Amino acid sequence: MPVTRNRRGKDMKRLDIGVFLPIAKNGFVFSTAGPPYPPSYQTNLEISLLSERIGLDFVFSMSKWRGFGGASQFWDASHESFSLMAALAAATRRIDLIATVNPLLFHPAMMAKMAATIQDVSGGRLGLNIVTGATIGEYAQMGVIPENYNEHRYAYAAEWTRVLKRLWHESSVTHHGNYFRLEDCVSEPKPNPPPFLVCAATSDEGLRFTVREADWSFMSGTDLGMVKQYAARARSIAAEEGRKVKIAIPVMLVMGDTMAAAEAYQERLFEAADLGALGNIGRALSGENRDRAQLRGAQRLADRKAIYAGLPIVGTARDVADRIIDLAEDGEADCLLLILVDYMDGLQRFGAEVMPLLKAALDVGTQDGTGAGA
Ligand SMILES: Cc1cc2nc3c(=O)[nH]c(=O)nc-3n(C[C@H](O)[C@H](O)[C@H](O)COP(=O)(O)O)c2cc1C
Repeated sequence: MPVTRNRRGKDMKRLDIGVFLPIAKNGFVFSTAGPPYPPSYQTNLEISLLSERIGLDFVFSMSKWRGFGGASQFWDASHESFSLMAALAAATRRIDLIATVNPLLFHPAMMAKMAATIQDVSGGRLGLNIVTGATIGEYAQMGVIPENYNEHRYAYAAEWTRVLKRLWHESSVTHHGNYFRLEDCVSEPKPNPPPFLVCAATSDEGLRFTVREADWSFMSGTDLGMVKQYAARARSIAAEEGRKVKIAIPVMLVMGDTMAAAEAYQERLFEAADLGALGNIGRALSGENRDRAQLRGAQRLADRKAIYAGLPIVGTARDVADRIIDLAEDGEADCLLLILVDYMDGLQRFGAEVMPLLKAALDVGTQDGTGAGA
């Protein structure tokens, strides 16, 4: 057996790496300088197949129902998360597929069967990311927001999740709760295995829900300090609850042959910042009755360089690898969601140049991934 030690002489840390798919228009960069990414199955298929080839672990799609306009028409159009993942399930062979659900939109019996179907198509590769809604307007436009939703959004999500899990495991479910009523409800077949669960929440109550019900806590921070604080909070709430949780973080990669080239590229993105869309998302988040949403909103309004929806990592392949190794070894991250300005180009480079460096220091990738780009 080869000795798997990292540069600090410890056992190698496992880091799962996946891709945050551009399911909504313009991807995750508030700038008109990158590709516009109109919602496209073909694009997301090519990205997923390449991710599989370079040995990544998963692809992840968010759920978005209303965008933020501006010159880039940011997120003004998007595909539905589960429908896209069902199609990708049939066309990929190994990579995990994580789709996002807001419990307001799917009854748990509907979700139970959708998951069982996609597990059958994919051979058991589905994960569910549970969200309670970044901006209420997205859901208010459909008239699905219950009264005082903000005060009990996680009670609603918890009841939904428990009913869902029962439907996945029990032959019949009778449940008389605050939000759902099921009488001798049958859901067959069972998903095999039951999908793993992720939750994107940032409040303490959201994190408590996450560690009780889910396997991963998905959180974004725009600087390392934020990410570290968040990870510490999630781990301390998990410890209080006697649970373990994996920390998943989106990272925005801006790579170049030299640091100067990467920074010049970033400067072009900043110059073409979509200030209209940034203002719109900033105002929408600032208006939310959630502390951390207000914080994220204020950051977007105050900083015209706040164009990324993940932790920026800028530099050469070596710089990118070193930052990722630090993120994993210092305990912040168990899973990374890669965001790229140009996904195909960026992933080829990541596979060919960054993955080999990561493999020397971390337990990353899969056996069959070549790590060598296309
Ligand atoms: C990294 C991340 C990704 C998210 N993705 C979505 C999403 O795709 N759709 C959505 O409606 N809400 C999304 N949200 C919003 C969260 O689910 C959550 O409802 C919101 O942050 C308010 O809850 P909180 O105060 O616990 O954070 C996301 C939040 C984070 C931190």
